[in-house]
This record gives sequence, structure tokens and C-alpha cells, in this order.
Amino acid sequence: MSTYENYLQEAVIAARIAGRYQKYRFASALNIEMKGDKDLVTEVDKESERLIVEHLLSRFPDHDIVAEESIYPQNGSPFRWVIDPVDGTTNYAHGFPWFCASIGLLSEGELVAGVIYNPVYDELFTATKGGGAFLNGVRLSVSSRTPLKSTLLGTGFPYDCATDSANNFTNFIAFQKSARGIRRAGAAALDLAYVAAGRLDGFWELKLKPWDVAAGVLLVREAGGMVTTFDGSIYDIFNNRIVASNGLIHDEMVAMLAAVASGKE
Ligand code: IPD
Ligand code: CA
Ligand code: CA
Repeated sequence: MSTYENYLQEAVIAARIAGRYQKYRFASALNIEMKGDKDLVTEVDKESERLIVEHLLSRFPDHDIVAEESIYPQNGSPFRWVIDPVDGTTNYAHGFPWFCASIGLLSEGELVAGVIYNPVYDELFTATKGGGAFLNGVRLSVSSRTPLKSTLLGTGFPYDCATDSANNFTNFIAFQKSARGIRRAGAAALDLAYVAAGRLDGFWELKLKPWDVAAGVLLVREAGGMVTTFDGSIYDIFNNRIVASNGLIHDEMVAMLAAVASGKE
């Protein structure tokens, strides 16, 4: 049993509690507020976060919390939970059934446990550092698909894509030409879980937040994949440019991003 299994099990309980609530409220009338021009928050985001935080703090009252919808006091604990209560909020608010709860755990700044739960499919993705990645208890490994032209990739676009030129549009065009296909499904955490599961071969995005990626990055690494920044250097969840892949197409993806950045693509 991995050292972090007890933490993982409590995160699983919290994600299932939130997921059950999300499924129950799905496609019902919701209070929705705007955080920006395109960025929504629903009452389900807020209540899901409350449920997750309540469960985790009931088990680990000294741990720190970083979550999307509220600011929590930081006590200087070596353990920090990084929580996206609903990843895929735009989907959720539109009744498009593609969303999840995502919970990662940092110990001394290092990812050690992660859970992503898709309540619609009842798919629970879990990982612990050194303990592997799993889908509903079955071990995961990344795909072996290569080269880039044979692959299916995931990505997304930042909420400010209409007003900021760092909007991922040119990268999207270049990858759409060079890969077999691209999916913009609307939940970055699930994109990463799908790379871990070998359902996507690679993923890139910019301007993501720590809660979008914390659990998913550990899943990809523990499934044998690779995660870096756009230039191929070491990635941490506070870096806002991410490339995740099965490892085999990583150099091709990084080279493509470099070519786009230098105007050669
Ligand atoms: C968003 C989703 C989306 C990504 C956005 C994220 P949210 O998170 O993960 O796929 O493209 O950049 O902000 O707002 O649904 O939690
Ligand atoms: Ca998110
Ligand atoms: Ca969210």
C-alpha cells in the first residue's frame, strides 16, 4: 500500500460526495453568476467545493486548502489540497454532460495523490506518487501511439481568448493540420485523465490554474506519460503552459509549439 493511500481514500470519498451532488443537480435550474465575460460560476460549483472542503478538513483539520471558488487561510501545513470542485463549468451550466470533480494533494510542494471523478460515466481516476494510476481500480497506462500524425490530442482555450493574443489559436491550427484530430471537450482535468488512460495521446493548453491540472498531472506521470512546459522544461502546477503526452510524441509536440511561437508554422 502506497504511503499516500489514506489521503487518496479520503479524496475519493470527497470527490464521490461532490459528484453525486453534481449528477443530482445536473440540468436543473441553477443560479449562475459571471466571473468574467465568458467565465461562469454556478451554485453547484460553490456547493461542491463546500462539500469537498468540509470532508477533507473533517479528516485533516491542519491541512491547507487551495480551491477555485474561495480563498482559505494558509496555515503553513506541508500538505496542501488543490481542488477544482467542477471542472467543465461551462458544460455543466449548458446541460452538456462533460464535467468532473478534481482533487490533488501536494506534500512539501510535490504532487502525491490525485482523484478525478466523472459522475456521469461513474469513472474514478486515481493516482498516488509511486503507486500508479487507476481507472475504477484497473491500472492505467498511456497510449503507445506515434508519430504525431496518427494521434488524437486534447486542448482548450482561455476565457480571455477574445481579448488576449495568448489564446492558443495558432497552436490549434498547427496541431489540427498535423495530428489525426483534436478534441476541445471543455474539462482540462478530464483531458489529462484521458491522456493517462490512453484515450488521448497528448494534451496542451495555456493559462490553466493549479486546480485544473493538479490531479491530472500526477495521473499522467503515474501512467507512464510525460508532462513539461511548452519548451520541454520541468513543469510544476503553478506554471501556466502545459504539454502532457504518452512520451513518444512529446518531442514532436514541443517542436510544433516552438515552430508556432517562432512564426515558422
Ligand atoms: C476550464 C476547463 C476548460 C479549460 C479552461 C478551464 P472550469 O475550467 O478546464 O477545459 O479550457 O481553461 O478554465 O472553469 O470549467 O473549472
Ligand atoms: Ca477548471
Ligand atoms: Ca471549476
